[in-house]
Amino acid sequence: MQKIFAANWKMYKTRAQAAQSAADLAAGLRAMPEGQSVMVFAPFTAIGDVAAAFNGVPGLFVGGQNCYPAAEGAFTGEISPAMLRDAGASWVLTGHSERRHIMGEDDAMVARKTVFALENGLNVLLCIGETLAERESGKLHAVLERQLEAVFSAMPEGLRGEALEGRLAVGYEPVWAIGTGKVAGPVEVIESHAAARSLLQKFAGETANRLPVLYGGSVKPNNASALMALDNVDGLLVGGASLEAQSFLQIIGA
Ligand code: 13P
Repeated sequence: MQKIFAANWKMYKTRAQAAQSAADLAAGLRAMPEGQSVMVFAPFTAIGDVAAAFNGVPGLFVGGQNCYPAAEGAFTGEISPAMLRDAGASWVLTGHSERRHIMGEDDAMVARKTVFALENGLNVLLCIGETLAERESGKLHAVLERQLEAVFSAMPEGLRGEALEGRLAVGYEPVWAIGTGKVAGPVEVIESHAAARSLLQKFAGETANRLPVLYGGSVKPNNASALMALDNVDGLLVGGASLEAQSFLQIIGA
């Protein structure tokens, strides 16, 4: 299974700050192990700078944090997959909890974005995850199923099965663990990742065993290796602790 370490820089960093961090990461990741990828989801304004700093380092990629499901048009404030690719991105995040809960994106919109990005040449890190109230009322499995079903039921014939290998990864991020310092415990992570894997098998068949599932939510250098050792954890999606290159490099080294 491909291992993925992803940094989500959210709404942080000027272009100069992003270029510096990206150069530090590139310097630290010249010899990327086989089967491992590192990607940075940068603010739109910094994608070109990060891509330039990563140029030529195998296994290092830059992505956008959002895109709109149309080629172009009167969609003020939005950005298309082609524009992201033009800036140097090869990946995009969809369904991040901050898009779902702050910007009000529903499952149908996340599905449209995911499919349109894949159809237009971007690879997608699709984020799913439950709120605390949903977990406490026993709805974990139902929420993950609803979020994944929306996407997979919108997939056209050409984006089923093997066509998704190397192109789709899933980020499981419990909403209550994002930016709160509350990392999910091993029992919770194992339970959630097992649910995500079995749902992926339901929707994508055997290919599901080659779709990486990343854990995200208060990942730090001191908990990364324990998280990576858990069943069905194929990578990490890191917010706050990815802003400093040295801290993200420590997480990757773990
Ligand atoms: P934190 O690592 O800051 O909790 O953020 C997680 C996240 O939202 C990554 O996408």
